[in-house]
Amino acid sequence: MANSERIRGERQLSLLPDDNTQPQTVEPLNIFTEEIVSSRLAVYRKTTGEFWTERQRQMHSLHYVVSYRASFKPELPEYFISRYSQPGDVVLDPFSGRGTTALQANLMDRTAFCSDVNPMAMRIARPKCSPVSVQEVARELDRIPLDPDTPVADEERFAPFYHPRTFRELTGLRTYLQNTDSDAARFIEMVALSRLHGHSSGFFSVYSFPQISVPLENQTKINERRKQAPEYRPIRERILRKAANSLKSGRLAEIRAASQANRYEICDARSLSFPDECADLIVTSPPFLNKADYILDNWLELWFLGIDEEQVRQAVVQTNSLKKWKEFMRAAIMEMARVLKPSGTAVIEVGEVDVKSETVNLDEVIVEIVAGLRLKGCPLDVKEVLIHLQNFTKLANCFKVDNNTKGTNTHRLIVLHRQ
Ligand SMILES: C[S@@+](CC[C@H](N)C(=O)[O-])C[C@H]1O[C@@H](n2cnc3c(N)ncnc32)[C@H](O)[C@@H]1O
Repeated sequence: MANSERIRGERQLSLLPDDNTQPQTVEPLNIFTEEIVSSRLAVYRKTTGEFWTERQRQMHSLHYVVSYRASFKPELPEYFISRYSQPGDVVLDPFSGRGTTALQANLMDRTAFCSDVNPMAMRIARPKCSPVSVQEVARELDRIPLDPDTPVADEERFAPFYHPRTFRELTGLRTYLQNTDSDAARFIEMVALSRLHGHSSGFFSVYSFPQISVPLENQTKINERRKQAPEYRPIRERILRKAANSLKSGRLAEIRAASQANRYEICDARSLSFPDECADLIVTSPPFLNKADYILDNWLELWFLGIDEEQVRQAVVQTNSLKKWKEFMRAAIMEMARVLKPSGTAVIEVGEVDVKSETVNLDEVIVEIVAGLRLKGCPLDVKEVLIHLQNFTKLANCFKVDNNTKGTNTHRLIVLHRQ
């Protein structure tokens, strides 16, 4: 049982720079509580507060191109990259998802190494970190044969989502992209991915859910309930508009320069293809116990990218079992220790989950894993744990969801130090 001593109440506080980083300006923080947790496993500082402010879409516009299951906001990697790394350093994310850490690292003049077992992740992260101009997007789009008049296979099957003319264009785009490899083609692919389904006329589909691709049967039911049928939505103008919107923050040359030495790997986090001691900092968020179904929720995206669902299903770790999750994380943390440089830092973001009607704080599980590994000679120590709380009422209102009862309420961040 952890023995905690509450040492501070709600107040404003500036954190001191860390021992192994250069002094730097850190914004004043809203710290609610700070405790020293002392248990038979470890002694560490646990701070609860609002470490960064998540406003809607305040960071670089490229961060928001594509939605992705269980992704974190760019403010999170920004906070840790500025705290624990220097320009020119290598920042790694072994569960990179849509490449939030990678893009933020490049924006802050660091090199990004990203890896994820789902090939879809790299199809988002790489073009984000190699953006092309709107003019290049327009030129490339002009080369793509988009023929809305000639029938194609599968248009019946996809009819709950797309008007046949839209689907024919989409098929033309998909075929072209499968046979073309240029930065502009990959960028268009990423933008098109974000337009596959959603609720406004900016998407290719009839009204649908933007965050997840619902099964065909469910879309049929949505259409019946809403008395709607897909209308023709020409795809070129929609891709161009979304591309312009995602590029509006500029800084393309800076991102491209910083990403020259980036690495992108499709790999299991338990056996990364990066060399020993290559990363200065890891900022990552592993899959939490069945919080998201990366296959079911992305079936349209996987179809569009020509990725075999079964291949992803075999590779991605999605488990309900805390025991299996612990085994998985033990192996992934050992791999993080291998790729981190001495004195490097790893930040692992987790949440709380309900297991058999009990709430389990996954940061405590990670602390236990790290302590166990420490006894076996793994050179990682728990440096501190940060519990980031947000103003959920504000967010819940703007997204029209109740974050306090569904999903993960807090960011729980375990900061590890490599000896
Ligand atoms: C919580 S998400 C990460 C989201 C990311 N931080 C972002 O902002 O987009 C977890 C990621 O872990 C990946 N994943 C699941 N099992 C994996 C494994 N065995 N090895 C590597 N990645 C895995 C999933 O594909 C998913 O992209």
